[in-house]
This record gives sequence, structure tokens and C-alpha cells, in this order.
Amino acid sequence: MIAKSEEINVNSPNLAVTIGNMILKNPVMTASGTFGYGEEYAPFVDLNRLGAVVVKGLSLEPRAGNPPPRIMETPSGMLNAVGLQNIGVRTFINEKLPFLRKFNTAVIANIFGETVDEYRRMAEILDGAEGIHAIEVNISCPNVKKGGIAFGARPELAAEVTRGIRGDTGLPLIVKLTPNVTDIAEIALAVEAAGADAVSLINTLTGMSVDIEKRRPHLANVTGGLSGPAIRPVALRMVWQVVRAVKIPVIGIGGIMTASDALEFLITGATAIQVGTANFVNPASVLKILDGIKEYLLRHRIVNIAELIGSLNTQ
Ligand SMILES: Cc1cc2nc3c(=O)[nH]c(=O)nc-3n(C[C@H](O)[C@H](O)[C@H](O)COP(=O)(O)O)c2cc1C
Repeated sequence: MIAKSEEINVNSPNLAVTIGNMILKNPVMTASGTFGYGEEYAPFVDLNRLGAVVVKGLSLEPRAGNPPPRIMETPSGMLNAVGLQNIGVRTFINEKLPFLRKFNTAVIANIFGETVDEYRRMAEILDGAEGIHAIEVNISCPNVKKGGIAFGARPELAAEVTRGIRGDTGLPLIVKLTPNVTDIAEIALAVEAAGADAVSLINTLTGMSVDIEKRRPHLANVTGGLSGPAIRPVALRMVWQVVRAVKIPVIGIGGIMTASDALEFLITGATAIQVGTANFVNPASVLKILDGIKEYLLRHRIVNIAELIGSLNTQ
């Protein structure tokens, strides 16, 4: 009997993971800004199969973003300076959320603001919206009141935003960290102490490239965010630093193109992962990654993904 039940388990491993009070059917999510509002990718990807859809970053009011050119391909990656173009949180709830509600997939709203009050107002609005399962807080944007320093670059500012939102919502709170800091673990510890249920990392690394004939930057914004496989080793190193520092779940992001890349993050200790730039290369990447993780668990006879998470052997 035991052997039989083990066999059943080995043949269908348990992929579920928990973030705060949210149980995801598997650890594979889409990264904000690379999967639209879900609807754009629905013709290519069965959204029901995903652990979660993280939607494009939302602000309190709609934003037009930066002027073009906004995207530049780089070796093993891309630079983007889209400038957080979006339809605003209320239009998202009225026009995009009804579509997402049709799926049996967690919906995570990614938000950004220029003041703590803006973040708090968005959290309040989202808290009352049916079909939102968690909030991911992007703290990589400049804080206008405090002189344009990114909230995520200073532990005390990162904590202030987190604490503010924590008071306004019972939804699981994921704080998304910027890699453009000296010590990312310090920021992670600050947001954990301020009430974050999880941290996700990394956002893009600030970069730049120049057209030597025109002697102009390729991007109208001059600098942009570097993403894709080029940043993966940096992202993995930061996930490693953060999983050792905090007790809350860590969501790994950065250059995940294949199941093997995703497995590196899970083994290092990420509870879940997000797929970003890969969605631009192949809209179905996220499903291939999910299938590959499952295949790995079957091949290694691992019945529960929890056994794999953080199983890195450094001896
Ligand atoms: C075009 C583009 C738009 C993005 N927009 C957002 C956004 O709105 N909010 C956010 O938190 N991250 C945003 N990101 C960052 C991604 O979610 C992710 O953290 C980053 O790209 C690293 O993952 P990747 O290498 O798999 O793309 C964006 C990235 C790209 C490439």
C-alpha cells in the first residue's frame, strides 16, 4: 500500500507553494511589465496553468511613460525605459480584472507610487477589488517628496512604504526589491520587519548604451533597466544573500529563460519564481518552464517541491 501511494505521489508531484496566506498551485509566475494585464498573452498561454499572473505596474492615475526609443537589445538581454506606462489602478479594476477573474489563477497587482500616500491609496482600492490575491510593491521608483531617492534604495524608506501599506490591506504583501543597492539583504530585513509577507527580487539593473555614429544614447531616457539572461547570475547571488537573511518567502526573478534557470533559483531557496524577458522571446516560455520543473521533480522522484526549495549544498 505504502509503495503504491508513494508511486502515485512520485508520478504527480505536489508543486504548491505558500506566500503569506496565499496558496499557489505552482511556483511559476509572470514578471510585472512583461505579460501585459494577462489578456494579451491569453491566446498563447493557458492562464489557468500558472501559479500567478503579476500584472503590469499600476499607478494611482494613468501614465503615458517615456518617449521612444524605449527598448534596446543588448548582449544576452535588453534595456528598457518604458517609464511605467499604464492605465491606472481604477481602469485596471474596471476593464482588465473582470477578464482575469475568469481564470483559476492568482492575480497579483504590482503597484508603484511617488509618495507613501499614493501607495496606500492604491492598496486600499485594491483591497476592496474582487479577484486580487496579493499586492506586489515596486519600490524602485523615485520618491518625489524625499528628493527623488528610490524608496528601495534606503532601508528606512523601504520600511516606511511597507508599514504604510500593511496598515491598509490584509492582502499578502510582496515587496519587490531593486538590485541597485550596496546591500540588498539590509533592505529585505527592513521590509520584513515592517510587515512584508514576502520579497521578490530582482528588478532591473540600471544600464546604458550609446550609438557611436550619432554619439547619442540608444534610449531617449539615456539610461534604462537591464533584464534577461545577462543579469541572472547577479539575481541568483542576491536571492542567495536574501534567503539567508530573512524568514519570509523569497521570489526569484532575473533572466529566467528555461526550467533549468528556474530550478537554480528554487534550489538556492526561492519559494517561487517570475519569468520576465523570456515572455518576449517566446510567449509560451512560462509553460515550458513549468513543464520542465515538473519533469525534473519526476526524474528525481521528488514528491513535494518543498523538498527541493533551499536544498542547495554548499559543502
Ligand atoms: C519592458 C519591461 C517592463 C517592466 N515593467 C515593470 C513594472 O511595471 N513593474 C515592475 O515591478 N517591474 C517591471 N519590470 C521588471 C521585471 O518585472 C523583472 O523584474 C526584470 O525584467 C528582471 O526579470 P527578467 O530578466 O526575467 O526580465 C519590467 C521589465 C521589462 C523588461
